[in-house]
Amino acid sequence: MAKASEINTQNQSGIGEPYFCEECKRNHTKGKIYKEHLNFAKVEPKDDGVLNEEVIDDEIEVSDLVSEDDSTSVEEEASDEGLDEKIEVDDEIEEDDFDEELENYDDDANACVEAVKKLPGVGEATLKKLIKAGFNSLESIAYTPPTIIQKESGLGDKTTAKLIKASMDKLDIGFKSAEDVWEYRKNISRITTSSQELDNLFHGGIETGCVVEFFGEFRTGKTQLAHQLCVNVQLPKEDGGLNGCALYIDTEGTFRPERIIQMAEGHDLDHKKVLKNIVFGRAYNSDHQIMLIKEAASLIKEKNIKLIIVDSLIGHFRSEYVGRGTLANRQQTINVHLHDLLRLTDIFPDLCVIVTNQVQSKPDVFYGNPTVAAGGNIVAHGSTIRVYLRKGKGEQRVAKMIDAPHLPEGEAVFSITENGITD
Ligand code: GTP
Ligand code: MG
Repeated sequence: MAKASEINTQNQSGIGEPYFCEECKRNHTKGKIYKEHLNFAKVEPKDDGVLNEEVIDDEIEVSDLVSEDDSTSVEEEASDEGLDEKIEVDDEIEEDDFDEELENYDDDANACVEAVKKLPGVGEATLKKLIKAGFNSLESIAYTPPTIIQKESGLGDKTTAKLIKASMDKLDIGFKSAEDVWEYRKNISRITTSSQELDNLFHGGIETGCVVEFFGEFRTGKTQLAHQLCVNVQLPKEDGGLNGCALYIDTEGTFRPERIIQMAEGHDLDHKKVLKNIVFGRAYNSDHQIMLIKEAASLIKEKNIKLIIVDSLIGHFRSEYVGRGTLANRQQTINVHLHDLLRLTDIFPDLCVIVTNQVQSKPDVFYGNPTVAAGGNIVAHGSTIRVYLRKGKGEQRVAKMIDAPHLPEGEAVFSITENGITD
């Protein structure tokens, strides 16, 4: 397509004068060249009569640069041109990273990308934008709200709506019978906690496809349980694992590989392999924490991640959003973050997400337990299963099922030993 700079050299007569485009053999008006060329390209079929996919793709790129307003000024166009060139340079720089990223994908992940590639209107540029933003499967596009896809990928609203609709059609998302749901839930995968009692509290281990919250005071075993699950998820299915890897987001700086080694030895596992299969990310602030979870989406398939730990969920939020005035904003941000996590379990149903949570004191409680989970109703509604941990005698800890869609309230006693969690 002709650029603004070319028009300046070829057409000396000023604004509004037609410019003859060699490419499409038509006159374009200066200031409107993108739109006119675009309209022409959109309707022009390829030799085989099929609409040019790459052109539709160009539309998405160009639409970001072209103002909807017909009266776009020359200055605006010129500066858009600069942006266009800048994006091209950036794209070249990122090209290698992008190819490298795709090379790391296994067959499974490649199949997902191929499915996205086949969506109508997806050419190289759109695919690149989607993958860079972590939308590398039909599920990730179908289950994410359009506003989030738009914000993170930079695609336009119409394109996004089209992509979501096409992904939903391909996945055949719609109504199903309760019997089908039951068939699915009967075979749901679970991770053992290494304590029979605690497994029983969950009716056979911690289930996948949901967000499980452990909350309690300091040293009640939240971090120890998180470490143990990172080891156990690597066990074969017959031993209560998922044959998968773990992603550990540490917001408090309490991840200790030493404990992983001890726990791996408790299961007679090669600790070197176990450590290798845990992807670790230290979150330095709440924004970083949110970003790490957004990036996690592209790691899950690539690294065979079956468990995500966020220890702890709201520590950073509590320290960064101080004062009553910031409360609404804080809760809204936590809500979005929790929904990012929940969405991951929709996209990857065999993924388990564990979050730990702190407690806060209720000064108005005179009888009973004055501690409640931090984060209020937002966290309470966001997590699927909530378990309260408290300290027992010596190594013993007590887990209490507080809220679950299908589990009764109940308690289990477990111990924290040198080799990890046990009865
Ligand atoms: P906060 O993060 O402070 O809110 O607490 P938490 O609930 O995460 O506590 P965590 O899971 O880190 O539990 C710490 C407790 O685990 C310690 O106080 C010890 O009682 C216990 N613990 C840690 N390592 C060992 C160990 O090697 N052997 C034994 N027996 N207990 C241990
Ligand atoms: Mg902890």
